[in-house]
Amino acid sequence: MDFLKIEGGKKLSGKVKISGAKNAALPLIASTILAKNSVEISNLPDVKDIRTLLNLLEILGAKYSFEKNRAIIDTNTINSTTAIYDIVRTMRASILVLGPLLVRFGHCEVSLPGGCAIGQRPIDLHLKALESMGASIEIKNGYVITKAKNGLKGAHIIFDKVTVTGTENIVMAAALAKGETTIVNAAKEPEVVQLCEVLKSAGVEIKGIGTDEIKIKGTEGELLCFDDIKVIPDRIEAGTYLCAGAITNSEITVKDVEPFHMDAIITKLIQMGYDLDVKKREITIKSAQKIKPVEIITSEYPGFPTDMQAQFMALALKAEGVSIIEERLFENRFMHVSELMRFGANIHLKGNTATVNGPTELFGTDVMATDLRASSALVLAGLTAKGTTKVHRIYHLDRGYEALEKKLKILGADIERLKE
Ligand code: EPZ
Repeated sequence: MDFLKIEGGKKLSGKVKISGAKNAALPLIASTILAKNSVEISNLPDVKDIRTLLNLLEILGAKYSFEKNRAIIDTNTINSTTAIYDIVRTMRASILVLGPLLVRFGHCEVSLPGGCAIGQRPIDLHLKALESMGASIEIKNGYVITKAKNGLKGAHIIFDKVTVTGTENIVMAAALAKGETTIVNAAKEPEVVQLCEVLKSAGVEIKGIGTDEIKIKGTEGELLCFDDIKVIPDRIEAGTYLCAGAITNSEITVKDVEPFHMDAIITKLIQMGYDLDVKKREITIKSAQKIKPVEIITSEYPGFPTDMQAQFMALALKAEGVSIIEERLFENRFMHVSELMRFGANIHLKGNTATVNGPTELFGTDVMATDLRASSALVLAGLTAKGTTKVHRIYHLDRGYEALEKKLKILGADIERLKE
């Protein structure tokens, strides 16, 4: 297994190019199951999760090419609707094939995704919504067996909780269903918006895109003709690199970004005393005179993203005062706390709230990645800690950050990828 070795304390500088958004790319790849034509998707991040989903489509019988961040996918050769355990257990977002496969083929068997480090991650809301559209659902031997022999019909769906992939699954199922589907309490993330816009340009009548009530008029089984797709920038990757600049109190620029998607992140950095120069497609962060403590409550978009919680906790270690971070979306998204404590952090947990005392002098050490975003928080701490940090189990990082050590090296970090 690989690990990252970081010599901390280096100032960063320069510009880094942000990749396409993993969490936009995954539903877009799944949506090609609804296409009659070969679909070209560019600006795909070359990360593990993308390759895993493309591999799943190939196992189902689809054909694809993927090089230089561009995929061409043809799903007309699909001859199976079973998403096997081996794939789904490595990436729970595989559940995104459920809606499209069910509505196109009338049946689908997906291994229950199982939980992950950050929580139990149920899919009950996905399944309840599909049932209301006429699907029969059975859980057997760890698989969700779904059937819709008369096809799916439009329904009025109210999500008890805002669910990103739940919304995406139902939007895709509704796209080919018979009649109109209304989703109330829908997710509004930019990644959901791009999926809706792509389906709309492929011929699906969709209203309320980007709001919490989306109306989709299905094509009654008529497959869609997709335009070429360019994946939107990854707002979480961009936020992570801004935090790299912030935690080393450097001036760096993230380019090829969509600042409009990053309001909550930008606002929090300004509250902490950083000066940001926001242009149309790039953001420059400048050093802060005094790094102020911060209060963060994670919530659904456009609130503060849970996927940036760990990174801001690392940054809060440098703040002069006490920061309060409340995690409201996942029940166990503080796995990075014990690892940050190994650097010398002074953090107290009470339920889903962390009290972070700063400023703390951090000392390099060996730490272990546990989930994608927690791993990036450990890298951030390593960038500022005195001495050498080794981040182990970085396969978590490789799931969602393209060429992380290469990009940090471009910014001047002393970081290398080594073999255990
Ligand atoms: C998406 O996960 C993202 N993944 C996550 O990013 C992100 O953290 C999360 O949304 C929240 O923003 C992708 O888009 C591939 P949810 P998702 O369904 O859709 C509960 C990363 O780091 N819930 O919005 O799985 C659930 O337990 C990943 O890139 C149910 O109870 O999240 C959670 O508490 C990590 N029943 C809350 O809703 C359901 O059927 C939000 O989950 C579905 C969800």
